Amino acid sequence: RAARFVLDPAFEVGRVDPRLFGSFVEHLGRCVYTGIYEPGHPAADRDGLRTDVLELIRELGVTAIRYPGGNFVSGYRWEDGVGPLEQRPRRLDPAWRSIETNAFGLGEFINALRKIPGSEPMLAVNLGTRGVQEALDLLEYANHPGETTLSDQRAAAGDKQPYGVRLWCLGNEMDGPWQIGHKNAEEYGRLAAATAWAMRLIDPDIELVACGSSTRAMDTFGTWEATVLAHTYDLVDYISMHAYYEEKDGDRDSFLASAADMEAFIDGVVATCDHAAAVRKSGKRMRISFDEWNVWYSTRPGAGPETREWAEAPRLLEDVYTVTDAVVVGSMLIALLRHADRVAIACLAQLVNVIAPIMTEPGGPAWRQTTFFPFAETAKYARDARVLAVNVHAPTHETAKHGSVPLVHATAVTAADSEHAPVTIFAVNRSQSEALPLQVDLRGLDHLTRVIEHVGIHDENPDAANTLAEPERVALRPIEGSAVTVTGAGRALTATLPPLSWSLIRLG
Ligand code: AHR
Repeated sequence: RAARFVLDPAFEVGRVDPRLFGSFVEHLGRCVYTGIYEPGHPAADRDGLRTDVLELIRELGVTAIRYPGGNFVSGYRWEDGVGPLEQRPRRLDPAWRSIETNAFGLGEFINALRKIPGSEPMLAVNLGTRGVQEALDLLEYANHPGETTLSDQRAAAGDKQPYGVRLWCLGNEMDGPWQIGHKNAEEYGRLAAATAWAMRLIDPDIELVACGSSTRAMDTFGTWEATVLAHTYDLVDYISMHAYYEEKDGDRDSFLASAADMEAFIDGVVATCDHAAAVRKSGKRMRISFDEWNVWYSTRPGAGPETREWAEAPRLLEDVYTVTDAVVVGSMLIALLRHADRVAIACLAQLVNVIAPIMTEPGGPAWRQTTFFPFAETAKYARDARVLAVNVHAPTHETAKHGSVPLVHATAVTAADSEHAPVTIFAVNRSQSEALPLQVDLRGLDHLTRVIEHVGIHDENPDAANTLAEPERVALRPIEGSAVTVTGAGRALTATLPPLSWSLIRLG
């Protein structure tokens, strides 16, 4: 039993948009407060930003950062978070049953991003409790150069230069009954179209994301996209997707195959977009903003906001990720890369403390979760790359949730602009018990003579995690035995993928 595929530089999926390695900062739990922002912390800079956290964010390599929500945005008044601190109101945040102090707002967020090279803001407007006018006001505040009341307010707050925010989300998960101001597809489609049209009058250079389905499991999935796109096809640049996976009832095989579901979800959205294009005889190819994805144990007891007292920055959604979770995250990144021709933007939800690759303790340290490693390594080698076509032939196994799936999930990338660049393979072995040999036929890649490195995430204990007590228990490990050999048919890579593992193999 082995997994095999052919790599040939003539066959590619497409170029990666760096924004595929985006992230998400929501006013939720401790993502902002005591996550990124903690005035008084020993590592805080003069803006109250935690420099230890900023350092880890830079290492993670995130690009587009979505803000300020999430469910939060559908009840948010952006004006609360700008202007003099002492005048900012304390408000209830009904979405997460929390108290929002508004000490952190748009200006603070943009300022934080200035300290994260390669990042850019992706702002969501509130289409839950608000509408076209408030979206226009926010855009004017953010992007208009000056000499209007709103843009002068920004200048008075210290930001004379406009923020130049290009990426805008037209609301969040408006298909979800849990969303404040939830709408049906017809209502949302009309509002999104009206908002998009008006926003472009102020700034024609912006890129707009319409809300797609919150999960593939929504009853309205498919018809929601079709209706929304009927209203917005010519007015928006992206349709959003969201997907979270978790291990349920001990069914680890299904959990390890989550990316199979994610790929089927992407294929379904692409088909719906292309149908919308065909109907209107449009040559425009709608792209996807997968602006929330991750492992999230959302059905564990206590995960929801329902029963708590109102509190500032409560500990919410602070999932501790295991080796198994990191393998699934690595596999989800492989799924995104395999669809890089249509998925332009993707945001790992979220960035700090809340279902996040980075954890902090108030007043204490910051550390990397297990999921940090596959994200940082994939971003490092795939951000400016092109994705090669990979068709894996591997043994399959049956899963309860996703049917028959191949045991190996893989993709490969190489530099976009050089023929003799190294090639990086990302591969996941979904078998919990069996190491699998991997054989890759390297056609037309005669310049590849050696394995530069083969590292990965795997462990004798697939439930091992990094915690406050043991923050460096899990890290990348070298994997031995990989080699480039010369066969009758040319060069080939031979490697072994340990059971339940994520691998990065660099060939040069
Ligand atoms: O990321 C956590 C939440 O998940 C977001 O607020 C919401 O958009 C989604 O349901």
